[in-house]
Amino acid sequence: MPKMRIIYTHNKIHYYLSLLNPFVLVLLSLLCSPSLSAANSAHNTFLHCLVNHYSDLSHPITSSIFTPNNALFSSVLQSYIRNLRFNTTTTRKPFLIITASHVSHVQSTIVCAQKHNKLMKIRSGGHDYEGVSYVAEEPFFLLDMFNLRAIEIDIETETAWVQAGATLGEIYHSIAQKSKIHAFPAGTCPTVGAGGHISGGGYGSLMRKYGLSIDHVIDAQIVDAQVKFLESNFIA
Ligand SMILES: *[C@@H]1O[C@H](CO)[C@@H](O)[C@H](O)[C@H]1NC(C)=O
Repeated sequence: MPKMRIIYTHNKIHYYLSLLNPFVLVLLSLLCSPSLSAANSAHNTFLHCLVNHYSDLSHPITSSIFTPNNALFSSVLQSYIRNLRFNTTTTRKPFLIITASHVSHVQSTIVCAQKHNKLMKIRSGGHDYEGVSYVAEEPFFLLDMFNLRAIEIDIETETAWVQAGATLGEIYHSIAQKSKIHAFPAGTCPTVGAGGHISGGGYGSLMRKYGLSIDHVIDAQIVDAQVKFLESNFIA
């Protein structure tokens, strides 16, 4: 019986929140614009902040904003609810969902959330068992990362840039398309999002020999409310 030989070389992963993915932008242009007037006044200043003050004009944020009045609001919210205990009518819903498709959307969201003191939940694959990425006891909005899922693999340098919304299955598949001898140690469930998995450490079936996902993260692009990007360049 032929055996497949899997050699794990020390491939590293770059983990980032923000690289532009043209395909994502094409996809998003099909989504509906929000009805801004539908948001109640308490959230209007936050919305205006998002739309007017911080957006990169070449990547308008409006098509990424979903108020509860938007016809797609429920399906966007439900599509990454992995714990069906929280897929009920009585579960508190976000007052807004932002499906960021460009780094400027993430930046606007974080700056405005801090400025207007709004509680933000960030969701990539939605696999947290407690629903903490999309459920809260206080009023909150959701920064949904599923549109930011680009994966760029460089076999020469044995590195990959992965956006937060990419799933583990997509990462494994992308690596397999480029190489039969490379792998990345992470979890076993293919629909888990890279953002939550890696930031939580990332254990999986290669763990005994190669450690956690986070042991193989060598760089990150982080967006915060103070500066445009934090370009880290650390060696794991
Ligand atoms: C979540 O609930 C909605 C109805 O409220 C239903 O249409 C949808 O299928 C549910 N999601 C799953 C994954 O069961």
